[in-house]
Amino acid sequence: MIVLGIETSCDETAAAISQDGRILSSQVSTQTIHRKFGGVVPEIASREHEKLLNEMVVDTLQIANLSKLDLDGIAVTQGPGLSGTLIAGVCFAKGLAQGLQLPIIGVNHLEAHIFANFLADPALTFPFTCLLVSGGHTQIWLVNGLGDYELMGETRDDAAGEAFDKGARILGLGYPGGPEIEKLGKSGNKDSVQFPRALMQNQNLEFSFSGLKTALLYHMESNPNASKSDVAASYQFAIIDALTTKLNWAMKQSGCNTCVIAGGVAANQFMRDYVKKIMPQKKIIFPALSYCTDNAAMIAYLGELYLKSGKTSSVDFPVLPNMKLA
Ligand code: KG4
Ligand code: ZN
Repeated sequence: MIVLGIETSCDETAAAISQDGRILSSQVSTQTIHRKFGGVVPEIASREHEKLLNEMVVDTLQIANLSKLDLDGIAVTQGPGLSGTLIAGVCFAKGLAQGLQLPIIGVNHLEAHIFANFLADPALTFPFTCLLVSGGHTQIWLVNGLGDYELMGETRDDAAGEAFDKGARILGLGYPGGPEIEKLGKSGNKDSVQFPRALMQNQNLEFSFSGLKTALLYHMESNPNASKSDVAASYQFAIIDALTTKLNWAMKQSGCNTCVIAGGVAANQFMRDYVKKIMPQKKIIFPALSYCTDNAAMIAYLGELYLKSGKTSSVDFPVLPNMKLA
């Protein structure tokens, strides 16, 4: 089975092809135009998707050495995300599916992030615990099977990726903030500033990062000459330490021996090393770096799984900017 995936939930325009669980091609174009605004401008992002999508799909098919007529279905991100950018992708996908008389599958972007781990380890089996850490979400899930998910904990305020992005802004770094803080923190001492970790009692699986961001702001106001690399390393450590500690508790509570890390923050190398150090006895899976941040390979892969299981969407399905996982 051959499925085209399309992803436009935020500022990455992406297209990919999955055939029998293997990714034949995956193209991502990150819209750099937003950097000068310090964050994504939804209206501009939607227009960029509209401009880029056709070329992305043509290129992706060409790289896979396929024509549109070889496709068995089209999968597209239905939500969550920015409404305008989702509409750009979904309208394009619906038009293409109608024209080619193909089934269409509206895919949950969060679920696709989780399933990107099957691309890293095709032998992954259910159940497993998932730490989902992106720009908009920080959640721990118990994943029992396709479509069977139990929420174990989530953030009360900012997502981990958002904490990186807001922290980077306070430190005068660029957007997205995660890679910037990681780069700067590499030469810093992670123990130089004791930033707070919230809700750390009684194996609580909820997160909170808004106090951490405020602590960083106050620290920089009172220590304007502080070494930014030390501060970046300590700030990153505070986020990763909270995530890892709670993931470890969740593994104990669920009794799972395997966990996967999903979403853009999973690209963080310090986190990859730290999780393995804290949980040496567990099986820990991270997606390939190119499949951590937003991409269409994960959409095509999950879309193909649903198509194989007989689940498709009606052609009038709506975009769901606040789409939930369970
Ligand atoms: O999954 P993603 O690409 O988009 C959403 O679905 O939100 O995640 C984007 C988030 C951003 O907040 C970005 O700063 C963060 O992932 N991120 C990182 C790293 N690379 C991306 N955070 C920490 N370290 C990184 N290397
Ligand atoms: Zn994402």
